[in-house]
Amino acid sequence: MKNFISKLPKAELHLHIEGSFEPELMFALAQRNQIEIPYKTIEEVKEAYKFSCLQDFLNIYYAGASVLIHEDDFYELTMAYLTKCQEEAILHTEIMFDPQTHTQRGVDFATIINGIQRAREEAEQRWGISSLLIMSYLRHLSEEEAFETLQQSLPYKHLIKAVGLDSSENGNPPSKFYKVFEASAQEGYVLLAHAGEEGPADYVWEAIDGLKIARIDHGNNCLTDDALVDEIIKRDLALTVCPLSNLELKVVNDLKEHPLKMMIDKGIKATVNSDDPAYFGGYLNQNFTAIHEALDLSKDDLVHLAKNSILYSLAEENRKQELLELVHEYVLNN
Ligand code: ADE
Ligand code: ZN
Repeated sequence: MKNFISKLPKAELHLHIEGSFEPELMFALAQRNQIEIPYKTIEEVKEAYKFSCLQDFLNIYYAGASVLIHEDDFYELTMAYLTKCQEEAILHTEIMFDPQTHTQRGVDFATIINGIQRAREEAEQRWGISSLLIMSYLRHLSEEEAFETLQQSLPYKHLIKAVGLDSSENGNPPSKFYKVFEASAQEGYVLLAHAGEEGPADYVWEAIDGLKIARIDHGNNCLTDDALVDEIIKRDLALTVCPLSNLELKVVNDLKEHPLKMMIDKGIKATVNSDDPAYFGGYLNQNFTAIHEALDLSKDDLVHLAKNSILYSLAEENRKQELLELVHEYVLNN
């Protein structure tokens, strides 16, 4: 089944570009930009990647991102991820980026987006990989700061499909960002948000009713509230589920206890994603393989998940049809 998964055409809907920052590239850029990082060897980095919760991870993730300075750095980071896509039969990807992680350090919005954009165009030309961008607001910062980011994004609106909400969930409910999400919608952005990763089902309610999001990032904790599950199904909202992330951040203690199969069985539209693959020990195919083995998913389940990733993507309708056709052909022949 590992072979079947590895070439199965699929889309990725939940990937933080800063979370695809491999230690090797981080070291190279730290040296090139003369920035100190608190590790001497790759082994030391890997030793530090043992997390007890989301915040524990975020502290290290923001420290790692601090070596990204120049447009070429963002280009190389993005190109490295898109090369993985090419290797993993990810034909469409929706890339989250956190502008505030960089603008707060004095990096221009233009530097970030131009570097990412150059890589996206190259991957499309070389490999036919389609991609789009999700600009995520950092929820541990203020709504006013999110408004500043929205303003900075406007000259690049044509390059950004959606806004998202990430970072420290507990204590930073969606309601903190209602106004900036409304303003983002008025600018034409699709609305997405992390909700119910560590936070309670109430945060998922706020995200769907208050932020009015079109898809839920993570959403695991919706399962504690039957009425919420019913509503998510009724409104046809998909969840971008991230199995290895959930394991590494202790959202689940064991992949065998992961709720993905339960979500599928209840009729929730789930997708599988890697979140921050450089930190959580695996890109998309490893997430598929690990959750397949842990939950004994069937081939039909895997195909269902791949189809969901396409159906619930933000790609244009003709691109979705093209990708679904590729899945169909692949399943007939494999
Ligand atoms: N930023 C990067 N990865 C994240 C995650 N899993 N949850 C919240 N914010 C994040
Ligand atoms: Zn995430």
